[in-house]
Formats: sequence, structure tokens, C-alpha cells
Amino acid sequence: MIPPTPGIAELSAHAGQEVRVRGWVTHLRSSGKVAFIVIRDGSGKLQCVLVKGSLAPETWERFAELTQETTIEVRGSVRPDARAPGGYELAVSDLTILGPSPTDYPIQPKEHGIDFLLDNRHLWLRSERQRAIARVRHEIEQGIRDFFYDRGFLLVDTPILTAAIGERSGLFATEYFEEGTAYLAQTGQLYGEAAAAAFGKIYCFGPTFRAEKSKTRRHLTEFWMCEPEVAFNDSEDNMHLQEELISYLVARCIERTRPELNELERDISRLETVATPFPRIDYSDAVTTLQAQGSSIKWGDDMGAEDETLLVEGHDRPLFIYNYPKEAKAFYMKENPADPRTVLCDDCLAPEGYGEIIGGSQREDDYERLLSRIQEENLPVDAYGWYLDLRKYGTFVHSGFGLGLERTVAWICGIPHLREAIAFPRTMNRLRP
Ligand code: 4AD
Ligand code: MG
Repeated sequence: MIPPTPGIAELSAHAGQEVRVRGWVTHLRSSGKVAFIVIRDGSGKLQCVLVKGSLAPETWERFAELTQETTIEVRGSVRPDARAPGGYELAVSDLTILGPSPTDYPIQPKEHGIDFLLDNRHLWLRSERQRAIARVRHEIEQGIRDFFYDRGFLLVDTPILTAAIGERSGLFATEYFEEGTAYLAQTGQLYGEAAAAAFGKIYCFGPTFRAEKSKTRRHLTEFWMCEPEVAFNDSEDNMHLQEELISYLVARCIERTRPELNELERDISRLETVATPFPRIDYSDAVTTLQAQGSSIKWGDDMGAEDETLLVEGHDRPLFIYNYPKEAKAFYMKENPADPRTVLCDDCLAPEGYGEIIGGSQREDDYERLLSRIQEENLPVDAYGWYLDLRKYGTFVHSGFGLGLERTVAWICGIPHLREAIAFPRTMNRLRP
């Protein structure tokens, strides 16, 4: 009988049995009579033990051909071992080399510079740390989908090629046949609004693009955004949905990715305090506070990264800054009836200096006001005819927000830079690999 090929994470179900395990060599050690191979298969790590005296000579000799990253198949019996990473090791009876790896593997167990690691991102992904981050990201993405699915939201996939500009930040443009210029979507929101009038509660979740000429640790040119849009939600309801989502995602990661957070040396106690309600600070109050702390911010300015860091200091959970000045924000936000200098919107700032993870707002639902905002911003009105129609045919109070996936991953993982929060980051100076 040919033994089964379980993943390393499944070995506990095969204790005492003969199996075959396939993976990549990460560590090698030999005393001359006993040799150890640690292999990785993506689901876990396994120590394989070879005893010279109990192996065919050619099998024992094959050990000498192994190098880091050689792809191998080992056959042997699964043995409980309290000191082993997954609680089991493999007593090897046979060893096959499936794919050799030359000794010049670029990533060695020593310090490498960040540019070198990013140039070798396709290989760097194999490290324990990158696996831990990828696993947390995966949990957050699944958490987002479950959160909205369980609450009856419909997933709507919005286009990436678009003629309607959504945000003020930089645009990637390309010629689009006879139709003029197409832009890579900065947001799916405008389409989400149309879908909300059709389906009520929706969300879109996909890659978005900003030709940002900023080299900060918080900016990518391609990032993933989750954008719910809800008919009849006002700005208050909108903030409530945001705090529910964030606390759900944090609790889920603590529960399901504790080993990965430990691998990343994340201080989990800083996440355990994340619970609703999050504090809410009016923009104007925030400016007064910041000025008292020595910031040069003036009423009307958007917040800089330093301002955001000052505001979250001493907070053990995210907080909302709400109702920013109109000129600091996008054209589609609803004018605040109580103070028309401002709009009904919020930024949700993560603690520990991770900055804005969500931008959200109630949308302008008045046809004339929206039209004048489009004109004031010098946007091409003809590209927004369909968007204005939403205010013409049955306008409705509605709100939504965009949660930046990489910023959320970076915060929950406790990693300083967004470039590790996505498998193949795109920044101003990085298009490869
Ligand atoms: O605040 P932003 O620009 O909002 C929107 O795009 C709205 N249309 C969302 C909506 O209401 N449906 O972006 C939302 C979030 C930010 O809070 C941030 O987390 C993330 O997207 N983000 C970026 N993440 C990485 N790199 C960038 N260049 C980002 N720009 C925004
Ligand atoms: Mg924003």
C-alpha cells in the first residue's frame, strides 16, 4: 500500500502510521550517525530524523545532496515528540529529491537590507514571518466576508476601469479605444451607491489604485479596500457599523491567529482592549486639542500623520474624527446641515500610531448640491450623469466607508510598513517582482 500524503498540519491524525510528506528543506544538521532535516510545506514545520544504521546506504547518502530549499519527499512513520514544533516528528525510511536547489539561495539566515528582500519578494515570502502575516491577512479577508455575509449584505464587484474619478489622489490613466481616458479605480464607492439603491446593503472588496507620489510607510499605489454602502444609514449608523466591523476583525484574529501574532511578537494585550464604542471627536475639537499640543494645523486642513498620532495617544482602541471641513474632503460627502462649512464624514484612526484605517461618510443626496460640488471640483460633469441619476430617481439617505486592508493588516500584525502586508507590494518605485 502506498502511504498517504498529509500536510504537516494534519500529521496528528496519522500518529504511529507510515506517511509521505512533501516540502522544502529549511534546516539541516548531522552528527555522522543521525541526521535531521526540517521541512516546511506551508501548513507547518516538521523535523525528519534519519538514522544511518537503519537506512539503505543510498538513502543515507542522499542527505548529503540536500541544501536549503531543496524540494523533497520523505517517507516514514509519524512519532509523537513533545519538543517538536507540531508535536510530531518523522522517523524517515526513505528520502526522494523532487527539486534540487543550488547553494546560492539568496536569502540566508542573516540580516538582509529591505531593498534586497523586496527584490527577492518571491523568495522572501517563504519565511516564517511572511507566512504569519499572510495568514493574518487571510483571516481578516475571510472575516470581512463572513461579517457582511452574516448581516445580509450583498457582495457587488465594481469595475476597475472607470471614467468617473472618485477621490482626489493621483490617477493611473490609460487610453480606452474610442472612449477617451480610462482610469484605474481609486474606489468602488460610486458604483456601490448605485448598487445600494438596487440591493439595499452591499459591499465591494477589491484592489484600488492611487498614483501617490508618496514614499511613506502607509501608502501603496495598489491596495485592497472593503467598501460597504448602506441605504438609509446616516453618518451615526455608519460609524456604528465601522466599530462593529473592526472589533469583530480584531477579536477574530486574536482567537484564530494567536500563533501567528506570537510569531510576529505582537503585543496582543494592545488588541484585547479594542471594543465598542470607539471614542468620537468632532474635527473642530480635534484641531483645538492639536493646537494646544503644539501642532501647526489650522481649521480647514486635513490631518497629517503626526496629528493623527498625537490624537490617538493614550487611547486603547481606535477613535473617530468626524465632520471635517468640506474643502479637506471628497466632493460626494453630504453637507452638514448644522454647520455647512463641514461634511458628515469620519476617519477612523487606529491606535499605536497606525493612522487612518477607514474613511467614511454620508453621501450628498441632493441633486443640485451634488452637481455644484462636481463643478466646483472641476470634475467632468458628463462622466457623472449616471451618478447624478441616483439623486434624480428616488434619492435616499445613504452612507458607506472604505476600510484599507493593508493598513488593517499592518496594525493588527504590529508591523510598521504596509509593504509587508501584501504579497507583492506596489509602490512608486516597485513594479517587480
Ligand atoms: O479615505 P479614502 O480615500 O476613502 C475612499 O476611497 C472612499 N471612497 C471610501 C468609501 O467611503 N467607500 O480611503 C479609504 C481607506 C483609507 O482609510 C486607508 O485605510 C486606505 O483606504 N488607503 C490606502 N491604503 C494604502 N495605500 C494608500 N495609498 C491608501 N489610500 C487610502
Ligand atoms: Mg481618507
